Amino acid sequence: MFPFSPIHAASARPSDSDLSVLFFNKSHSCISDLSHLATDPTALPEQASQLGLSDKNRAVLTTASDGNGHFILAQCPEQPSAHAYRQLGASIYYALKPTSFNEVAIIWPDLTVEKSLEKSDCMHICQGFYGAGYQFATHLSDKPEILVRELTHVVQQRQVLMRQFDYAEAIVLGQHVTKDLMHEPPNVLTPDNFAKRIQKMTSLGLQVDVMDEAQLKAENMHALLSVGQGSSQPSRLVTIRWCGHSADCADPLALVGKGVCFDSGGINIKLSQLTDMKYDMGGAASIVGAMHAMARLKVPTNVVGIVALVENMPGGNAYRPSDIIGSRAGKSIEVLNTDAEGRLILADAIDYACDLKPRAIVDLATLTGAVIVGLGHEYAGLFCNQDALTDNIKRAAKDGGEKLWQLPLDPAYDRMMDSTIADVSNLSAPGSGAGSITAAQFLQRFARDIPWAHIDIAGTAWISAHNGVHAKGATGYGVATLVELAKQY
Ligand code: BES
Ligand code: ZN
Ligand code: ZN
Repeated sequence: MFPFSPIHAASARPSDSDLSVLFFNKSHSCISDLSHLATDPTALPEQASQLGLSDKNRAVLTTASDGNGHFILAQCPEQPSAHAYRQLGASIYYALKPTSFNEVAIIWPDLTVEKSLEKSDCMHICQGFYGAGYQFATHLSDKPEILVRELTHVVQQRQVLMRQFDYAEAIVLGQHVTKDLMHEPPNVLTPDNFAKRIQKMTSLGLQVDVMDEAQLKAENMHALLSVGQGSSQPSRLVTIRWCGHSADCADPLALVGKGVCFDSGGINIKLSQLTDMKYDMGGAASIVGAMHAMARLKVPTNVVGIVALVENMPGGNAYRPSDIIGSRAGKSIEVLNTDAEGRLILADAIDYACDLKPRAIVDLATLTGAVIVGLGHEYAGLFCNQDALTDNIKRAAKDGGEKLWQLPLDPAYDRMMDSTIADVSNLSAPGSGAGSITAAQFLQRFARDIPWAHIDIAGTAWISAHNGVHAKGATGYGVATLVELAKQY
């Protein structure tokens, strides 16, 4: 899967390596062992900037003209963050990619030196490095040729770092699962096909249960079924269990994902950005990718993932603007816009999650265009009804290297979703603004009194241009944060 040999470490640089990756920073605290080079460490910053190193690309390839052989100079960030280290890792990959060197050695700095790298920094560099090679080539007749290179991590603290590298590998593979699902076109990745792909993950020790439409009806999931009824593709709800703490999976962390395999808007058909709406299952895909990683890492936590899979289409049987529909929770919902479908399917999935008596529920959804207005494509929007859970999620996101920003919940926003003829409407009154918050308020009604958080990933689940870490397309956002969160429980 990676264009590299399986991850392995050695204490010395292999004699046949033809390219070395060297770390340095301006204060010389974070510096690889240069003893095999006739190079003055203090000259590295100057040399690197002459070769074109900038804040954008944190790594550059040297030529062999000085007799030192070939190496990539990788500059550690002056303002360290998980994100900056991921960017550094990706830059190393991009410097390496156009070359044809087969034997590569990454010479890690000595971690015991003060102000050198922390072990978690190395993990993030690794994540950026191994993640940057991702490509979705499933439907290409001429598959790109992949040069698989022999890569050795040269480290002194071998035991410690191998654990970090294995962790990075599990996260990256989980992100690849998410990205593969997201890039698959909607004529291939129907709700049923998505469910079948999840079922294949039982080999990792995950337990998977798929509900078909008859079972969804028996469960009174009328809101979810209403969204799917305009499509010829039947809806599904998939429950994925990782019982890492106890076989009964008691007191789990519940993760709920929006899985709209294609969001045309329904009868309120969208006028633009339709091709991006294959990505509207990004929340579900993140949860599947995260649980793939948790199973690989054998995280000692009980986790239940619930993904609601539908297609929102304007067929002859489609639900209409002005319909009043039921929900599993027993609340009636006036549908004022069929394009506000995510909250409807999540309402039933969250209510279903509540019955599992979870310690907390976290939902991920590409829910609103409004979150992009507020936060763009850098930060996801976080909403939470409990301070302790808020803190845990913020810490998990920081450790995972994913940016999110808390937005408020407030009962005052509920009035904007009032309906005079049903318990609630799915659209806030015209002109009320705060589209991401009112959507979150809608979801909160279905979370009962369980600690619950909602992460709106509409701006971060995919990007339309390279951002230094991820290529254009799906980013795998959420995988790293959810795995960090599961580790905390
Ligand atoms: N899937 C969209 C939200 C979305 C829009 C995600 C753009 C990513 C990019 C969602 O189902 C939707 O259509 N939301 C509407 C809600 C509105 C009708 C209240 C929106 O945001 O415009
Ligand atoms: Zn929609
Ligand atoms: Zn949607």
